[in-house]
Amino acid sequence: MPMLEIDNLYAGTEEVTILHGVSLTLDAGEVHALMGPNASGKSTLAKALAGDPGIIVKSGKMRFMGKDLSALNPDERARLGLFLSFQYPPEVPGVTIASFIRTALHELTGEETSVLSYYAELKEKLKQLELPEDFANRELHVGFSGGEKKRSETLQLAVFQPKLAILDEPDSGLDIDALRIVAESVNAMRSPERAFLIITHYQRILNYIAPDRVHVMVDGRIVHSGGAELAKELEERGYDWIKQEFAGMALPSEEQDTR
Ligand SMILES: Nc1ncnc2c1ncn2[C@@H]1O[C@H](COP(=O)(O)OP(=O)(O)OP(=O)(O)O)[C@@H](O)[C@H]1O
Ligand SMILES: [Mg+2]
Repeated sequence: MPMLEIDNLYAGTEEVTILHGVSLTLDAGEVHALMGPNASGKSTLAKALAGDPGIIVKSGKMRFMGKDLSALNPDERARLGLFLSFQYPPEVPGVTIASFIRTALHELTGEETSVLSYYAELKEKLKQLELPEDFANRELHVGFSGGEKKRSETLQLAVFQPKLAILDEPDSGLDIDALRIVAESVNAMRSPERAFLIITHYQRILNYIAPDRVHVMVDGRIVHSGGAELAKELEERGYDWIKQEFAGMALPSEEQDTR
């Protein structure tokens, strides 16, 4: 059974359809990269998978470990092991990173860990990510730089240890050292039981995290897929050739809005 199966997904807002028939299969143990021009629908796909209430699924299927995602609320999806790191992580005043992660971990696992063992684990992860110890005492993302937000999300990823991690531009705003640290953390988590979907604009992060597949989304559809070399080709040639190639293909059948 694939870990994630997306079949002919149409989704968007009340007013507009943004995803026009996305199909994608991801097996456990794999890392897939999702690339594509601005506004092509990458973040919308991530939000649809995570159950963002702002995105409405109009037709098609999303299955995670055999379960129909549309039947599950965001918390249930997270408890199954689905994690989404945001392109723009929200700021939550009054809640420290440490307490946020502890509460979320409790909700995810249903297990009560002792304060001591929790803080010992957190300290260990902070060290691995080369973050200062007091990083977790800061209010969640309040006043954080772009890079600090990304590193906070990497910390959450390292603690939650999800089965499927969808990372929306984990590399945006990172300096060279931070990029390496984030990539090393992802690589350390790669396992036959876990999968990653990494949304990125740049081949650079894929030099560190070798993807099994690379997909290109244009106008709410995956129009091209290939191996790691596709990311290099995109970096060199841009997206125009893919758009042209796609324009020459037969358009998919009429959108079915079954709402
Ligand atoms: N809530 C919304 N209401 C109206 N339009 C939306 C909404 N969310 C997304 N869109 C539109 O859908 C399109 C796809 O947006 P999305 O954020 O998925 O793109 P993206 O591929 O992640 O782009 P980027 O590379 O810039 O992050 C855009 O034109 C965007 O303006
Ligand atoms: Mg985006």
